[in-house]
Amino acid sequence: IALKPFNTFGITATARYFSTFTAVDELQSIIDAKQVQHTQRMVLGGGSNVLFTKDFDGLILKNELKGIELVHEDNDWYYVKAQAGENWHSFVLHCIAHNYAGVENLSLIPGNVGASPMQNIGAYGVEIKDVFHELEAYNLHDREVVHFSPGDCAFGYRESVFKRKYKDQFVILNVTFRLRKKPVFNTSYGAIEQELEKMHVQSLSIQAISSAVINIRSSKLPDPKEIGNAGSFFKNPTVPNEQFTALQQAFPAIVGYAFGAHDTKLAAGWLIEQCGWKGYREGDAGCHAKQALVLVNYGNATGGEIYDLSSKIVASVKERFGVGLEREVNIIA
Ligand code: FAD
Ligand code: EPU
Repeated sequence: IALKPFNTFGITATARYFSTFTAVDELQSIIDAKQVQHTQRMVLGGGSNVLFTKDFDGLILKNELKGIELVHEDNDWYYVKAQAGENWHSFVLHCIAHNYAGVENLSLIPGNVGASPMQNIGAYGVEIKDVFHELEAYNLHDREVVHFSPGDCAFGYRESVFKRKYKDQFVILNVTFRLRKKPVFNTSYGAIEQELEKMHVQSLSIQAISSAVINIRSSKLPDPKEIGNAGSFFKNPTVPNEQFTALQQAFPAIVGYAFGAHDTKLAAGWLIEQCGWKGYREGDAGCHAKQALVLVNYGNATGGEIYDLSSKIVASVKERFGVGLEREVNIIA
């Protein structure tokens, strides 16, 4: 099956086997089928954080579990369970419409609910871990449904157990979020304050924050419907504070933010831009003109071409700043 419609990078690749499932028993019977017994398996959601660098010689399990349900509430919280195949942004809009507060800063992130814990999605000062209550996942090895608490997930910056330790071992089935009845607005990101001012917002609301985030994102991130991409291609790297001080002396304009007490998180977009990559294009592979951290496919780039461009960027940032960049996008090789 052709994978181009199933990845936002718009990469042409194929999968040997491809099945959608809308229930756990359906998933079970798919993996029980004889011809896929010894084949590699991968779960796919919205395909907005993957780069296929070659054809996938295995089974792709496309998650289409649907439903959003308020499962419990107490004085302060709503507990809302969303099935993995729900679109993330539709879930955010559902929460805003019902006055469930906490995910408004995460508006307009592409992809599905099921992938959100995978890399602990984050934007504008909020991460999934701040609203996560628990999840249920199907263990492909032991064939049973397991509960994960926040501690079990070991969330970090764009990290969780699902991204490394348990890679391709669990199918996340649903996620329960703990959302506030009384909102606590997070406008710690300067860009949000500025946008709210521009919008002439009189009284703050989760709706207003969501609109501000949507405006900011639309102004710099490419819409995958128009230009293929998977959001930030690299993570923002962290360096010890002493190294940051030394870098600041050499490059006074360098952008960094405190990350814990001992480290500084650098803006990878700035480092890449300084190396001259912003707006660069080689064939159909490029570095986005408005956000250097985003690599783009203008049409017919191959996964290999995007990957090669990313390697050149890594090498030049290393040479100029002595800082290593780690890929954020899941490379399917
Ligand atoms: P996929 O791309 O389908 O899968 C990603 C990974 O998760 C794969 O390894 C896959 O095997 C695994 N996976 C998917 N579903 C499941 C499941 N149910 N169970 C187990 N494993 C699963 N991310 C951010 O954090 N913040 C942002 O601000 C942000 N902005 C973006 C902007 C754009 C324009 C784009 C294109 C992407 C952006 N991203 C951002 C990245 C992406 O949206 C997120 O990583 C999203 O969570 C991916 O969801 P998906 O369903 O598309 O996952
Ligand atoms: N910058 C540049 N040039 C660029 C891009 C950025 O100089 O081309 C500098 C600017 O100084 C800017 C700073 O970098 O102030 C930060 O840029 P931005 O606010 O756009 O955020 P980011 O650090 O590039 C991160 C996330 C995004 C998330 C935004 C908002 C990572 C890897 N990326 O990007 O997540 O939406 O912050 O919180 O942490 C994603 O993961 O796919 C993603 C888009």
